[in-house]
Amino acid sequence: MPPETSDALIIPIREQQDVLTARQKARTIASGLGLGIADQTRLATAISELTRNAILYAGGGECQLWDQSDDNTFRIRVEVRDQGPGIDDIALAMRDGYSTSGGLGAGLSGAKRLMDDFEIETSSAGTRVIVTLERSRQESFYI
Ligand SMILES: Nc1ncnc2c1ncn2[C@@H]1O[C@H](COP(=O)(O)OP(=O)(O)O)[C@@H](O)[C@H]1O
Ligand SMILES: [Mg+2]
Repeated sequence: MPPETSDALIIPIREQQDVLTARQKARTIASGLGLGIADQTRLATAISELTRNAILYAGGGECQLWDQSDDNTFRIRVEVRDQGPGIDDIALAMRDGYSTSGGLGAGLSGAKRLMDDFEIETSSAGTRVIVTLERSRQESFYI
């Protein structure tokens, strides 16, 4: 796991408005790097799903955003964590269509699909999901 840099942006997640704030800040980072609307939207969608889960299943949490780009790669890392009850069966929770709340059950699986890296850690002390969007600086994706 990469070191946590000091310029991480931390957004407390308690209510729907915080979801919008986190989405917007991520879009700003992505557009500032020159990433296109499609990638901005991928990032915003993954953040929506993960932060809404933190609200719904854990009563809130925190979203951290980092620009970890280097000479070769644009890289935005998002960590959403909470201190809720955790997920009993990750494999089941990751399955498309599985929901304990009557939802679509496409949040975790969708975030994984949309992002380039997905990690989840969960225990009875809480849940931490880390997703990363990565793009080569060499390729043209400014759409
Ligand atoms: N942060 C979390 N804390 C506890 N349980 C969670 C968390 N995120 C997801 N889950 C569990 O994983 C299931 C699947 O999540 P998700 O794919 O987002 O679908 P949905 O939210 O539509 O149910 C949820 O129904 C819930 O049981
Ligand atoms: Mg969900």
